[in-house]
Amino acid sequence: MDRKEIHILAIESSCDDTSAAVLRDRAVLSNIIATQDVHQKFGGVIPELASRSHQKNIVPVVKVALEEAGISTKEINAIAYTRGPGLAGSLIVGSSFAKSLSLALDLPLIEVNHMRAHILAHFIESVHGTAPSFPFLCLTVSGGHTQIVLVSDYFDMKVIGKTVDDAAGEAFDKIAKLFGLEYPGGPLLDKMAQRGDPDKFSFAKPKMSDLDYSFSGLKTSVLYFLREAIERDKGFVENNLNDLCASVQKTIVEILMEKLELAAKTHKISHIALAGGVSANSALRKELFEQEKRLGWKTYIPPMEYCTDNAAMIGITGYFKYRENNFTNLSSVPTARMSL
Ligand code: KG4
Ligand code: ZN
Repeated sequence: MDRKEIHILAIESSCDDTSAAVLRDRAVLSNIIATQDVHQKFGGVIPELASRSHQKNIVPVVKVALEEAGISTKEINAIAYTRGPGLAGSLIVGSSFAKSLSLALDLPLIEVNHMRAHILAHFIESVHGTAPSFPFLCLTVSGGHTQIVLVSDYFDMKVIGKTVDDAAGEAFDKIAKLFGLEYPGGPLLDKMAQRGDPDKFSFAKPKMSDLDYSFSGLKTSVLYFLREAIERDKGFVENNLNDLCASVQKTIVEILMEKLELAAKTHKISHIALAGGVSANSALRKELFEQEKRLGWKTYIPPMEYCTDNAAMIGITGYFKYRENNFTNLSSVPTARMSL
């Protein structure tokens, strides 16, 4: 039976990327992302500057998303936006814009949980030959989050493990900063690590119970290690940069994989997905593929544009909620801390 196509306009502004996307059912017609370089010189995201940049970017970003999709506002069925979690000031810009537009165009509004959206990005059309089948485990690793989620259905998700302090991306960035690398240091550290020896230095891994993670201890142990080493040799970091990066990367990936493996074993699940910006890490990807071969896992890693923050993932979540008539109203407020 023929069914009417659904067009969702989606808006994402939870951190430092202003993004808008248009989806026709599960297909992405456009996915525009304005990344804010303004934070680079400060070595981290400055919330006040992030909200100002969102304010500046949101109108042109939405305009280009509609143009690129070749869709007029009359063809849009609903507006989906990120309600949380994220930076309060950043969320306010996206949610206020979405609400105003829904009022002006008389369109229903759909609120989206950013962390659920990272996971549902796996269901965007043609991201994988076949989308993951339920139940699967998703390791969501970004600059703000590190969690293992048991995904039983589009809306049935449970966090079974999470970091108790820093996120994995945060650990990459903070340790990269100790090595003198620019923010965000994760991708640079990955690049240097490819020319280094991962077994040159060893760092203690945290002993966490169950499926939880901790990364702040690693950062501190690298800091103390460097202090001593620099006392002996002023050029220690420069002379060993590649090996330092490779050794730290190996440790972070081992920490991530050990708990993921335990989660898979405990829950007897072999379909494993990755989400979030740290999915770009070459060692993490390699390790996941190794485990696929060794343990018979079926692994899913979306292309980078759907791993890092983007509005297409908000759109696909909006699409699934639209099908359930799950709408919100103007009184819904952005929420910086929001559980899954
Ligand atoms: O998901 P994302 O774009 O933004 C949020 O944090 O929500 O993730 C960004 C994080 C940063 O911490 C960045 O350093 C890290 O992902 N990252 C990487 C790599 N690419 C991005 N970390 C390690 N290796 C990479 N190749
Ligand atoms: Zn994110």
